[in-house]
Amino acid sequence: MHEKKNEITRVDKMKIAVIGTGYVGLIQSVGLAKIGFDVFGIDIDENKIKMLNSGKIPIWEKDVEELLKKYNGKNLKFTTDFNAIKECDAVFICVGTPQSDDGTADLKYLFSAVESVKPYLKKNAVVVIKSTVPVGTNRKVKELLKECKCDVVSNPEFLKEGSAIKDFFNTDRIVLGFEDKTKHEARDRLMNIYEYFYNKKTKFIITNWESAELIKYASNSFLAVKISFMNELSHLCNCIGADITEVAKGMGCDKRIGEHFLNAGLGYGGSCFPKDVNALMKQFCQNDMEAKIITAADNVNSELPDVFFNRVSKRLKNLEGKNIACLGVAFKPNTDDLRDSRAVELKHKFLNKKANIKCFDYVGGAMDNAEKIFGDKIKICKTVNETVEGADAIIIATEYDEFNDEDWEYIAELVNEKLIFDGRNILDEKKVKKHGFEYYGVGR
Ligand SMILES: NC(=O)c1ccc[n+]([C@@H]2O[C@H](COP(=O)([O-])OP(=O)(O)OC[C@H]3O[C@@H](n4cnc5c(N)ncnc54)[C@H](O)[C@@H]3O)[C@@H](O)[C@H]2O)c1
Repeated sequence: MHEKKNEITRVDKMKIAVIGTGYVGLIQSVGLAKIGFDVFGIDIDENKIKMLNSGKIPIWEKDVEELLKKYNGKNLKFTTDFNAIKECDAVFICVGTPQSDDGTADLKYLFSAVESVKPYLKKNAVVVIKSTVPVGTNRKVKELLKECKCDVVSNPEFLKEGSAIKDFFNTDRIVLGFEDKTKHEARDRLMNIYEYFYNKKTKFIITNWESAELIKYASNSFLAVKISFMNELSHLCNCIGADITEVAKGMGCDKRIGEHFLNAGLGYGGSCFPKDVNALMKQFCQNDMEAKIITAADNVNSELPDVFFNRVSKRLKNLEGKNIACLGVAFKPNTDDLRDSRAVELKHKFLNKKANIKCFDYVGGAMDNAEKIFGDKIKICKTVNETVEGADAIIIATEYDEFNDEDWEYIAELVNEKLIFDGRNILDEKKVKKHGFEYYGVGR
């Protein structure tokens, strides 16, 4: 499966279009520009394109602005005009594939992007699907493009928000799915684009469309299962006096298990895991099967915000009028992305019980997005200290290590009640207890 550099048909001065300039498309655009390609980032959102052309990024993601400043207007251009595709040798489609009401992946943006691209495709261009799409989608895209003389390649994306640029340049794998992997034209074009990664530790997985599509869903769902497994164990830990963080440490030493994704807490959220887990379950159903393990993981995950919230309510008795300091807004650290954020879900639960909420996140963009959701229903604060002032309880909702480095001695003086519910098991329990806090982690 590990593809070595082979004879590659060179395409001089390759031009590349990236359709969709969201989290994935923007990273792909600036990343390919840095490698040296001429890149056109195309989006239907005029505001996004205006912002990008003025050197501002519409999302918060480390290191992107710097790269944008360096290449924008040079070998990187942003436009709403699909005409740019006429010059391009490869077109990467990176539009959203959100969850439909029935749990399947909604492919309307993807098919609309394919239709928009179609009239402009030059002969022998390669259309590369980076969006996460159910098995069979690349085949449908090929069917939509049957009059064009072009190849369709599945190239799912694995970057993580919060470390997207680092992930782009240090990716552990590049998955390429072809209609016929023995045919060299499309393969050469993609190997040429990704030549930069040959000398790195990157593995090239060359396979068919279906396997490539499934690798993406299987990877996210497997990680989701890992998280839910730990969360289920954490419930047992609560009853028997074991500490889930110690259990995870012990398990993670085993290379076969691996140390990552063993954190118990509020469970997974975000723009990918929940929708991808659901979409994979649906793909089992469409084939008259039940995804038993994945369904169980999803069930465990769905209960976690309620389990956590009920512990807080039980301890505080009546939440009405209580001051809750919620540390963290985004679904994970270092992003402004609030899609399916567990922190947001918790805030809604507290608001429903008429608690007063103050919140904070280290990423300003996350707080701007929280303001868009909650308006003046919650108070958005500039510092942790401002957030916790007068609090009856502190909730840790996003997994920022930085919360540990805050001055907990001083925080103890600011709060109304020294009470912490750590939904991410991030705080040093001993340290906060030393400052008089009553501390509740998850499964500790
Ligand atoms: N965000 C992640 O961390 C991540 C990681 C891996 C894979 N993915 C997958 O990548 C895909 C994109 O995710 P995202 O988070 O970047 O989405 P996003 O919502 O941030 O961005 C999608 C962009 O596509 C644009 N768009 C929609 N329809 C279009 C069209 N017809 N033509 C041109 N542009 C159009 C939107 O305006 C938006 O800017 C999804 O399938 C997602 O599951 C996301």
